[in-house]
Amino acid sequence: MTSTLLNAITAASRNEPDSGIISAVNHGIGRADIIPVWSGECNMPTPEAFCRPAIESLLRGETFYTWQRGIPPLREALARYHTRHYGRPFDAENFFVTSGGMQAIQTIVQMIAGAGDEIVLPTPAWPNYAGHMRLSGARPVEVLLDFANGRWHLDLDKLFAAISPLSKAIVLNSPSNPLGWTASLDDLKAIRDECRKRGLWIIGDEVYARFYYGGTGETRAPSFLDICDTEEQMLLANTFSKNWAMTGWRVGWLQAPKALASAIERIIQYNSSGTAAFLQQGCTVALDAGEDFVAGQVAKARSNRDLVAASLREHPQIRFELPKGAFYMFFALDGMRDSLATTLRIIDEAGVGFAPGGTFGPGGEGFLRMCYLRDPKRLEEAMHRFGKWLKTSKPS
Ligand SMILES: Cc1ncc(COP(=O)(O)O)c(C=O)c1O
Repeated sequence: MTSTLLNAITAASRNEPDSGIISAVNHGIGRADIIPVWSGECNMPTPEAFCRPAIESLLRGETFYTWQRGIPPLREALARYHTRHYGRPFDAENFFVTSGGMQAIQTIVQMIAGAGDEIVLPTPAWPNYAGHMRLSGARPVEVLLDFANGRWHLDLDKLFAAISPLSKAIVLNSPSNPLGWTASLDDLKAIRDECRKRGLWIIGDEVYARFYYGGTGETRAPSFLDICDTEEQMLLANTFSKNWAMTGWRVGWLQAPKALASAIERIIQYNSSGTAAFLQQGCTVALDAGEDFVAGQVAKARSNRDLVAASLREHPQIRFELPKGAFYMFFALDGMRDSLATTLRIIDEAGVGFAPGGTFGPGGEGFLRMCYLRDPKRLEEAMHRFGKWLKTSKPS
């Protein structure tokens, strides 16, 4: 019966591999003594100041269908936020509220690529990109970043050589999940110029822009917004999840040229029919009054990164680049052939929940990923447990 039912769904839904992050979570969730560092989120709940407006909105009766593009106060707050951080005026009409960054990505892919089309994607990358492209019938063309002499490097010639007549876009996630690799302004300009020349969409994912450990005083990573016009062939996915500790809210945004507004509104209508109005009230306050919170999160991430790096450096079988951005450590473990099997064993044998590198696509096998935006005391304990495991066990 199971196989009959499975044969009755599309090949794409049947054959899509599980996300290894979710496999790790499903294996370890609910265990009393696990220290989870598998998902990309901090350990703190959303601050009360951002929850309160959502609660009040519910109690005011804002429980109806709402604007498909997002409530006007939130779209205006998004424009103000961008004006503050990117140093030029932005217009609310370029912003569309989505159900998480994930739905912004779905909307983008659905809008620009279908069966037979290709999207060029540097990897290792967050698995949801390739997964969603395959489910939509588009083919991710994965271009490996090189890991040599302890550094990740994106070879732009290799990236551009992957463009074919079927290509619709290049995706760039910077700072990157899982690598923490961050594009320079020159990288971004080269990608912009190539996309302009070849008539491709730029898909930018800058959800970790604020988690940037570059020069002193810099409060965000280099961005396509520094060098591109908002009305050009560019689509940016973003989210409330990371900066404001709101992963469970499932609210994000899409920034797009105004010419696409009706097309985006239709896709939202026929997918989710909009994002709950009461959630959007909390997000509006997060944007307008959340700067101290974001600064605190970034400072915590930076010091945790250094804590974890110092601990990993004690093990000669581990290699990694100190990440410039985001909040993940992506490290190679010598001798590991099967990162998923190793991840599940470390959950069972050491009580630490990593994510398997293999799930991040070509170039990721042989690595493990951990999120370090966690309580530093628990991180210390996780590193201690993992260190003990390394002394007595061999990876699978
Ligand atoms: C690179 C990247 N983009 C987008 C997202 C989407 O976040 P969400 O759907 O939680 O808003 C994530 C979440 O982990 C991510 O890592």
